[in-house]
Amino acid sequence: MPEALIAPPGLEGVVVGSTKLSNVEGKIGRLTYRGYDINDIAPNAHFEEVVYLLHFGELPTRAQYNDIRRRLAAHRELPEPVIAMMKSLPNDSWPMDVLRTSISMLSQFEPHNHDGAHTSDVETAMKLIAKTPTIVAAWDRIRRGLEPIPPRANYDAAENFLWMRTGEPAHDIAVRALDMYLVLHCDHSFNASTFAARCTASTRADIYAAITTAVATLEGTLHGGAPSEVWHNLQAIGTMDKVEPFVHDLLRRGERVMGIGHREYKVRDPRAQHLEQMAKNLGQVTGNSHWYDLAVSLEKTAVDVLHEEKPDRALYANVDFYSAPLLHSLGIPSDEFTCMFACGRMVGWTAHVLEQHQNNRLFRPQAEYTGPTGLPWVPMDER
Ligand code: COA
Repeated sequence: MPEALIAPPGLEGVVVGSTKLSNVEGKIGRLTYRGYDINDIAPNAHFEEVVYLLHFGELPTRAQYNDIRRRLAAHRELPEPVIAMMKSLPNDSWPMDVLRTSISMLSQFEPHNHDGAHTSDVETAMKLIAKTPTIVAAWDRIRRGLEPIPPRANYDAAENFLWMRTGEPAHDIAVRALDMYLVLHCDHSFNASTFAARCTASTRADIYAAITTAVATLEGTLHGGAPSEVWHNLQAIGTMDKVEPFVHDLLRRGERVMGIGHREYKVRDPRAQHLEQMAKNLGQVTGNSHWYDLAVSLEKTAVDVLHEEKPDRALYANVDFYSAPLLHSLGIPSDEFTCMFACGRMVGWTAHVLEQHQNNRLFRPQAEYTGPTGLPWVPMDER
């Protein structure tokens, strides 16, 4: 066995595995899904097309596209006990907690083998991708004292989600914005939640176990929890004249400007420009561009101030920054933003779990032990 290497904290810069799903080239700000540039995908592809691309490895023909739309639509409904479980929860339960519990509970309605493992295959992945938005929309209504609205099979994912929240047909631009949001969140190489899912999958745990791990890992504010924090910042700022003092105050307290900075990207996150444009379009259609305008000002001020502080740091807007005004314009409450991230990322998580199972090696790194050694044993009465 080769001598162990000590990896840098947070595994920064360490390649821990291989994938054919997506590639992040942080220095030049390029993201590709299966070799296709996100800048080509975002304005052209629909969510269901990207589901096909990531799971089947190539762009779908029209017939394949229609087939996957039908397959996903057929899997949207939740087992009744999952809805009953949600109805039994306190109304102030955190949406990400409810999502994690519900995803885990879904496994109870799948067959398992004699070891308790559920089938981990593309069809199960489709079920998870299809049911996640239904869970999010159902909890949104249940916690407001409303009945969940059943999914509609004649709508695609984005339109159906907006329908399930309100029971009213959504504006075309809202559907397009959410569709693009989902597309942009589908995959991002070995980010923390995907890596966590692959670690779980590497023990030969099934897809439900691995996806529950992923949902749990997404929620932290350094990962999928960031857009809610961006929204809290925008609200705390309130008006244009407060942007600059807010940024200075935050940094003086040693805090971070949420939605800014990325472990991999040393330029602006390529997803940010598409989300920014959509947030702008939504602002124009809804007649309320205030939060978008404030976000533009916050980004510019934060980037300038951070650069002035330390010119060698490369800190720019990431995917979460414009997700906040975009999701707000769609009427989604800020404590559900991370759930929306999960609706998109479910595509990548499930594809990564299946990829891990196909060519598996158990993740089992070592740790550098930094505690005391050689301590003499002291009997309990003498301590
Ligand atoms: N605001 C202010 N300073 C920031 C910052 C931010 N958002 N992000 C990084 N920095 C600073 C750090 O303080 C550090 O400064 P120093 O060199 O003076 O100590 C330097 O930039 C490098 O930060 P580091 O924590 O080593 O980078 P990382 O690779 O671990 O961080 C993130 C990546 C995403 C965790 C970090 O940029 C961050 O916390 N961003 C805000 C949260 C967020 O938006 N998360 C979603 C990511 S998609």
